[in-house]
Amino acid sequence: MSSPVIFPFKSNINLDRKSNRHLYLQLCDQMIGFIKSGKLAPSTKLPGSRKLSDDLAIHRKTVVSAYDELISQGWIESIPAKGTFVSQDLPIIKPKKLQDSSILLEAKDTAGFTFKKRRHLIRKGIETIQATLKVDDGVPDHRLAPIDDIAKIYRNITKKAHHKKLLIYGDIYGNIELRKALVTYLNQTRGLKINIDNVLITRGSQMGIYLASQLLLNNKKIIITGNTNYMTADNTFIEADGIIKRVAVDKQGLDTNEIEKVCKKNQISAVYVTSHHHHPTTVTLSAERRMHLLDLAQQYNFAIIEDDYDYDFHYNNAPILPLACNDSQGNVIYIGGFTKIIAPALRVGYFIAPKEVVDEAARLRRILDRQGDTLLEQTLARMIQNGDVQRHSNKVRRIYKTRRDLFCQLLMEKLTDFFEFEIPKGGMAFWVKLKKPYHWDLVMVASQKQNLTFINDWRRYDNDNSGHNGFRMGFAALNEEEIEEVVEKLVRAMNSIKT
Ligand SMILES: Cc1ncc(COP(=O)(O)O)c(C=O)c1O
Repeated sequence: MSSPVIFPFKSNINLDRKSNRHLYLQLCDQMIGFIKSGKLAPSTKLPGSRKLSDDLAIHRKTVVSAYDELISQGWIESIPAKGTFVSQDLPIIKPKKLQDSSILLEAKDTAGFTFKKRRHLIRKGIETIQATLKVDDGVPDHRLAPIDDIAKIYRNITKKAHHKKLLIYGDIYGNIELRKALVTYLNQTRGLKINIDNVLITRGSQMGIYLASQLLLNNKKIIITGNTNYMTADNTFIEADGIIKRVAVDKQGLDTNEIEKVCKKNQISAVYVTSHHHHPTTVTLSAERRMHLLDLAQQYNFAIIEDDYDYDFHYNNAPILPLACNDSQGNVIYIGGFTKIIAPALRVGYFIAPKEVVDEAARLRRILDRQGDTLLEQTLARMIQNGDVQRHSNKVRRIYKTRRDLFCQLLMEKLTDFFEFEIPKGGMAFWVKLKKPYHWDLVMVASQKQNLTFINDWRRYDNDNSGHNGFRMGFAALNEEEIEEVVEKLVRAMNSIKT
């Protein structure tokens, strides 16, 4: 190794104390710059942390953190009893480009063995033109996700030595801190009466629906859903070998009188309900029907799978509390998560149920996915404790309300010759019905010609072939400019097929 460095750190390193970037990272960035540019050559001895901290007038811990970071990235190395040196083998600055083998001719398409194929899970893909404007069926705007805050908290957690234990095979019920935080959060904000034994952390609501179906529906057991219903949930029930019986959905949500009639004739295992905003029609299950449904569940001993996927988005008044908060006999499995409040890729959700159901679901989950992203779960626990989640949800609620109002106003001004819709009280989508004699297939084709793509097929909302002619149009993920553009393109598309 070479002799002590003569590189003048003091005059070359500039640290900005007002910057959002932590001082130790600024130090790392600048040292990496010197190494990359050759100003600090391989094997150069670096000053000790005490000397460098004196020179730069910063805390010694800041230098130690910077050195730790540079060591972990491979830029420098520490040699016991000798000191710290620029690495002899520097990390490869430009990684060798991997050869693109995505169209290898020998790659296999067909298997040399038989396996179960699930036709009901095949989705008709919509061909999209690149750079086209897209309308989804009600997802959050991922551009608003507080990703910097999440990254900062995640990083802070990883820096604490005692948090390294989060990297091991952990609790199959999910991160304990998040479960505790959820108990307080859900009891306070949604009137639930739960303790930690009632909480299982999942990878989003979908995993909760899957687990509930697997527990409830084997061997052709009956589940009641709405006509029409969230298609992925229906698929999950079929996959679990359940039989779906459908009841009407009107302006008050699922028709509970029809549910009662089904219960009188059949032994049913569960009712699936998106109580806050029915998927796809967006209506809220009325208070009266909620009480009726709970009474029926107690009388006929069935489970209510309450999928409260968009509880946070209500624009006109305070949300009606979930069915789960009046569940005195343990009939409700309450499902929700962070994918809608923050972003779909943040796969963290919760499954709330009586302890014995949670225990069984946790054991089942274990064989599918040993555990979730424990560090991310810890991060979300912090964000609930700090009030960050609540602040973010208030912020996006305001933004989505403005978007809903604008989309609504433009649809009313320009498209009522073709569409009928009600203003949704909450959620992230409109339920739009196409007037006669138009057909959604033609609307889709005409929109594509305007470079406007609806990313879901309308048949997705007609899973019982009832011909209701409705379609979900998401507004939350489009900013105001995009909403105006969508409506303009839609006007042009509709005029082109006008009869
Ligand atoms: C009604 C409903 N339930 C559940 C889900 C699944 O949510 P997650 O992404 O949390 O799994 C969705 C997703 O769009 C949904 O619309």
